Amino acid sequence: MKILVVGSGGREHAIAWRLAQDARVETVYVAPGNAGTALTPKLVNLAENDIDRLADFAATNDIRFTVVGPEAPLAAGIVDHFRSRGLKIFGPTKAAAQLESSKDFAKAFMKRHGVPTADYETFTDAAAAHAYIDRKGAPIVIKADGLAAGKGVIVAMTLEEAHAAIDSMLESNAFGAAGARVVIEDFLKGEEASFIVMVDGKNILPMASSQDHKRLLDRDEGPNTGGMGAYSPAPVVTPEIHEQVMREIIRPTVQGMADDGIPFTGFLYAGLMIDRDQNGRSNVKTLEFNCRMGDPETQPIMSRLNSSFVDMVEAAIDGHLDTVQAQWDKRVALGVVCAARGYPVKPEKGAEITSLPTDTDSLHVFHAGTKADAGKTVVSGGRVLCVVGLGETVKEAARIAYEGVREVHFDGMQYRSDIGYRAMK
Ligand code: AMP
Ligand code: GLY
Repeated sequence: MKILVVGSGGREHAIAWRLAQDARVETVYVAPGNAGTALTPKLVNLAENDIDRLADFAATNDIRFTVVGPEAPLAAGIVDHFRSRGLKIFGPTKAAAQLESSKDFAKAFMKRHGVPTADYETFTDAAAAHAYIDRKGAPIVIKADGLAAGKGVIVAMTLEEAHAAIDSMLESNAFGAAGARVVIEDFLKGEEASFIVMVDGKNILPMASSQDHKRLLDRDEGPNTGGMGAYSPAPVVTPEIHEQVMREIIRPTVQGMADDGIPFTGFLYAGLMIDRDQNGRSNVKTLEFNCRMGDPETQPIMSRLNSSFVDMVEAAIDGHLDTVQAQWDKRVALGVVCAARGYPVKPEKGAEITSLPTDTDSLHVFHAGTKADAGKTVVSGGRVLCVVGLGETVKEAARIAYEGVREVHFDGMQYRSDIGYRAMK
């Protein structure tokens, strides 16, 4: 069979690589892909971004189903378009993707359905937003309503920062239409985790838990990024917390979307803040929803998946997710992102990648911002590679991953040296 994966990052490399391991799969097309997907056996890049032409390709090439990696094509309605042409695709419709593409939609939805999240208000008027901030005090969190490539959230530790965020979003239009409406919400403390499930509109299949590192520098310092590393499982998600998240967040969300007439299909990613109250009871709140898998969380998660991902996705598309199970490698998988000089502000492109480690049973290299250029592999984006190690413990997985990272060479490479530190404590 032939499959189409839409996207070009490390997440899509990992998804396509895992799908291709099924013996029934002949080719996985990746549109547009990267240098890593170009080199992986059974994967073929397709230089195409246009939704209509991707649907033409799927229709004329006997594509069994399509999996969408990033949020942008989902928010643009790729799933609605493919379905209207009778093509099988896994992801949320444009309406359901609003759980990620509009923070105001997500917050109002959670409030309506009793899904725990920080208290908030939504503003389009700057004066009213400034007054609200003065009333609430700092720390406080300001979020652009629309998609802002991970840059639309300001965690303001002082009133000055909070007011400046309002000025830049509502007065100087720093985020364009995405920031013309802002959500202001209470600051939450605790430990973050990523909770990702597959949903077929009704049934839910949880993926292994994971945790990523959003800050650029060691000890969680420096600016926010798309993610500098991730590992699975996340020890903070104990079996009790897992059940609590399913009961309080995931099931009410899937049920609520169905009740609202916009059933959710696809990967549902809840960003969690986990804390304990004075009585030691754990308190879990939803920081955000994404309507896709995480990047780089997908790279360690796919490295641990032992079941057929093809069967899982097909069951999800056909509405039978209750008939499949996911088996996970008992080992820990830990991925370290190698980024370009200047990332996240202004990544430098063009450096040649002169050396890479070879994949083994316990080491996988997933490409992200790379492209093949006249026989060379060159840097073409901010996050360049994710090197995943598998080991019996977090420490062992980290040792293997970092051994791999030391074999990677390109000018300007930067990476964090402490991925997994929270799980080692
Ligand atoms: P988001 O894109 O909404 O996940 O926000 C990006 C990051 O900002 C999260 O991973 C958190 O580290 C932080 N953040 C978001 N909302 C809050 C909140 N209410 N309290 C504290 N930190 C937050
Ligand atoms: N790693 C965070 C995300 O994919 O949104």
